[in-house]
Amino acid sequence: MKKIFLTGVSSGIGLATAKGLLARGDEVWGTSRDVARIPQIARLHPLALDLSDAPSIRRCFESALAQAGRFDAVINNAGSGHFGPAESILPADLTNYFQVLFFAQIELMRLAIESMRDQERGLIINVSSLASRLPVPFMAAYNAAKAALASYTMTMQLESPKRNLRFIDLQPGDIKTNFNDAAMRTSMDNPRVAEAWQTVDRNMEAAPQPELVARRILKIIDREDPPPRVTVGDFFQSAVAPLIFRLLPQRIQLWGLRKYYGI
Ligand SMILES: NC(=O)c1ccc[n+]([C@@H]2O[C@H](COP(=O)([O-])OP(=O)(O)OC[C@H]3O[C@@H](n4cnc5c(N)ncnc54)[C@H](OP(=O)(O)O)[C@@H]3O)[C@@H](O)[C@H]2O)c1
Repeated sequence: MKKIFLTGVSSGIGLATAKGLLARGDEVWGTSRDVARIPQIARLHPLALDLSDAPSIRRCFESALAQAGRFDAVINNAGSGHFGPAESILPADLTNYFQVLFFAQIELMRLAIESMRDQERGLIINVSSLASRLPVPFMAAYNAAKAALASYTMTMQLESPKRNLRFIDLQPGDIKTNFNDAAMRTSMDNPRVAEAWQTVDRNMEAAPQPELVARRILKIIDREDPPPRVTVGDFFQSAVAPLIFRLLPQRIQLWGLRKYYGI
């Protein structure tokens, strides 16, 4: 039975992953800003955590660690998006987006490493996004924070001499969750913003269910030597688009993305 610390278990990918882990007998310490939103299931220990409240992150992790004794895996999953023109994001809001999507994850990763130092094996999974490589228009803060997380994770992979401590960058494409409903939206009266949102919303409606990601996470946890980066989504987004994108010059990449989002 494995002990897992997992952020954002109140919905979407986090909830599907928690259910998958619990169904096979693992024990999960799962977070939400409001513990009332976490379903009551045996071996799912609810924890309150708001990633925008930096000092609370250590308190939350340490209290969970005190209960669990150790964690086999720490999964940085919780997050939310902002949709609106990059040029109108205020500095204070940008700081907050980076706190929720980047600084909080780094702090949890640091705490996890500290707790796993003397273990035979430890695993940290950072849920970034395919948007870290294929940016979504009008999601500049989100794209940038996820790219920062992906880059930081890769640097940890590069630096870590210990094969017992693994860092995985998990990059979902569109997955059908509450993510869009939870996103903060601004300037929706701007026709280009509205057009791009329609595509984003349509893509999410047609996207695979979060259980697809949950199954990949379970596999990563079970594998002796998991791949450092895992892309998960429908076939086009997870396999075709990133490959084509890598081969094209940036001018063509921009043209293709504008076409894709109808802007
Ligand atoms: N769905 C996609 O298409 C997609 C694609 C690529 C990457 N991702 C990434 O996958 C992760 C999970 O997203 P999801 O799609 O499952 O969305 P979701 O259904 O909206 O779930 C997001 C989870 O994060 C928690 N959360 C949000 N803001 C938080 C904050 N400030 N502090 C603490 N917890 C917070 C939410 O909990 P409470 O609201 O209860 O606090 C919820 O449990 C995110 O990191 C997201 O960026 C999603």
